[in-house]
Amino acid sequence: MSGTNQPRRTLLLTGASRGIGHATVKRFSAAGWRVITCSRHAFPENCPWEMGPEDHIQVDLGDEADTRRAVEEIKSRLPDGKLHALVNNAGISPKGQGGARLGTIDTPEETWRKVFQVNFFAPILLARGLLEELKRTQGAVVNVTSIAGMRVHPFAGAAYATSKAALVGLTREMAADFGRVGVRVNAIAPGEIDTSILSPGTEKIVEQIPMQRLGTPDEVAKIIYVLCTDTSSYLNGAEIHINGGQHV
Ligand SMILES: NC(=O)c1ccc[n+]([C@@H]2O[C@H](COP(=O)([O-])OP(=O)(O)OC[C@H]3O[C@@H](n4cnc5c(N)ncnc54)[C@H](OP(=O)(O)O)[C@@H]3O)[C@@H](O)[C@H]2O)c1
Repeated sequence: MSGTNQPRRTLLLTGASRGIGHATVKRFSAAGWRVITCSRHAFPENCPWEMGPEDHIQVDLGDEADTRRAVEEIKSRLPDGKLHALVNNAGISPKGQGGARLGTIDTPEETWRKVFQVNFFAPILLARGLLEELKRTQGAVVNVTSIAGMRVHPFAGAAYATSKAALVGLTREMAADFGRVGVRVNAIAPGEIDTSILSPGTEKIVEQIPMQRLGTPDEVAKIIYVLCTDTSSYLNGAEIHINGGQHV
């Protein structure tokens, strides 16, 4: 049972091993949720939380067949067939030689496809694959998009930016379809958050952010939590910008 005397809720979170995902595990675990994580790496033996290997699924979301296999494995880890939230957080942002930005002219097509597989196709495969489990709880889906999906970014490449723009469109379409069966779908678009995905030179961007600082992974995790809980019970199809005012 969680602290609020309701049955323990379950979150499926992709990309939990670092950054925003890591902070999200901590936030939901602290609130009494069971968190099932997905990433390419095996469950870390020295994991500091109460979760064990039964709450981690090793999957390459850049591989369609492996993602479909993972959906079946996730279902088998839900004994009551119920999922309360799905957070599509895993994302990749490949760079060129020496960390160079990859634009529309020089992004290899194979890279472009891989980025879309992880950042765009995996979220829809997971959400559709787990729809029945989400319907049983009138659950929520959160897609982690990016400020780079809205406008050209100095470091984030063209494949990344277009995949995030597509993910915003997918959020809108899913909100229309999933909303009818009681599952809310929203997006959260971080600006510059202090994680390993940032590029050298980010300090220059920070000078232009009204709040004059990077965001922290926990500041993003707090809003993801709100999007998965009753505080946002009438929010569907929204994209929340969390960027210290960078978009104004
Ligand atoms: N940090 C920012 O400033 C910022 C800004 C805007 C948007 N975002 C978005 O926020 C999300 C999290 O970003 P972050 O900065 O926390 O990223 P991060 O530190 O690079 O972590 C990415 C996570 O995704 C997982 N992952 C990557 N490729 C995967 C694959 N093929 N299959 C399964 N898991 C995979 C990684 O785990 P493994 O390596 O173990 O697989 C890791 O847990 C991403 O969607 C990103 O686009 C971040």
